Amino acid sequence: MPAQISYLLAIESSCDDTSCAILKNDKVLSNVTANQKVHQQYGGVVPELASRAHQSNIVPVVHTALAQANIDKKQLTAIAFTRGPGLMGSLLVGSSFAKSLSLGLEIPLIEVHHMQAHILAHFIDQGQKKPEFPFLALTISGGHTQIVKVTDHHKMEVIGSTMDDAVGEAFDKTGKILGLDYPAGPMVDSLSRKGNPHTFKFPIPKAPNLDYSFSGFKTSVLYFIQKNVKEDPEFIKKNLEDICASIQFTIINILFQKLEKAVEQTGIKSVAIGGGVSANSGIREKLLSKEKEGWTVFIPPFEYTTDNAAMIGISGYYKYLDQDFAGLDITATARIPM
Ligand code: KG4
Ligand code: ZN
Repeated sequence: MPAQISYLLAIESSCDDTSCAILKNDKVLSNVTANQKVHQQYGGVVPELASRAHQSNIVPVVHTALAQANIDKKQLTAIAFTRGPGLMGSLLVGSSFAKSLSLGLEIPLIEVHHMQAHILAHFIDQGQKKPEFPFLALTISGGHTQIVKVTDHHKMEVIGSTMDDAVGEAFDKTGKILGLDYPAGPMVDSLSRKGNPHTFKFPIPKAPNLDYSFSGFKTSVLYFIQKNVKEDPEFIKKNLEDICASIQFTIINILFQKLEKAVEQTGIKSVAIGGGVSANSGIREKLLSKEKEGWTVFIPPFEYTTDNAAMIGISGYYKYLDQDFAGLDITATARIPM
C-alpha cells in the first residue's frame, strides 16, 4: 500500500460503452457508463456509429464521474485508459481524450489491456476475498473466450482461447436466430431460467486441448431452428424458453469441459471469471457448484462484468504502484497480445 493516496481517472471506450471511473487507490469512488442503444436496430455494433457516439458521450461521462466522486480534476494523480484490444475508432476516442487530459493536467498516463482489466476487476476493493496468485481466469466476452493463467497483476498467460467465435457471439448470434434483440445474451439468460435445459440437444464442438470453438455450435442451432420452423412456423414461439435453456446448457458445458481440463493440467484450483458473459446466471451457478470439488472461485459483482472503467482504474492503479507509465506517443491498438 503506498503511503501516498492516488486519485486515478480511468477511461474505457473499446467497444460500445463509454465509461469513466474515479478510484481512490483500489476503491471505486464513481463508475459512470453511457451505453449506446443505436446498435440495437442493426443487430450488432456498427464501428463508425460507435466512435461517433463515444465522441458525444465522453465529455459528459467524465464530468459526471468527477462530480459523483466529488473530486476536482486538479486532485487527480494519473489517467488510465484502454489501449486495446477493441475497435480502432472507439479506442482512438478514449486514448486521445486520456492523452490530452494527461498533457493538460501534467500527470502520468497509464495504458491498460482491456482483457487483463476484466481479470483485475476482482481486485477492486469492496472488502471481499481476493484471488491469490497463481489463479486461472476464464475471460468470456463479446470478443474473447480465454483461459488465462495469472501469476501476477501484470503476468498473464493465455493457455486456451477460441479458434473462431467468442462465447458472447455464440449467445448473441443464436439469440438473433430466435429473433431476440442485440445483445441477446442477457435475454437468453433470463428466458433460460424458465425453460428446461434438457429439452433439445446440441453437439459439443471439438477443439484441441484447452481451445474453444463456437462456430459449429451456432450453425447447428441455425439448422435445427430452420428445420423445425419449416414443420411448424410457430416452433420458436412455442418453445422459446426451452430452446434458450438448452442453448445455455450447451454453452456452459462447452466452457466447463475445457476449464475443468485446465484445472487438471495446471493443478491450480483457484478460478475466477470475468467479462460480459460472466454476468450469466447459469455460468455463475455452475462455477459456484465447483466449490464442492475443492475449487476456490471468484465471481465479480455485476457492475464490473460488462465493460466498465472501474476495471481499467484498478489495472491502472497496480501500474501506478510500479510507476509503469506510458509516453504521449502511445497509440491505441486494435489487437494486442496478453
Ligand atoms: O465484456 P463485454 O461487455 O464487451 C466485450 O468486451 O465484448 O461483453 C459483452 C457480451 C455480449 O455478447 C453480451 O451478450 C454478453 O456479454 N452478456 C451475456 C450476459 N450479459 C452480457 N451473455 C450471457 N448472459 C448474460 N447474462
Ligand atoms: Zn470487455
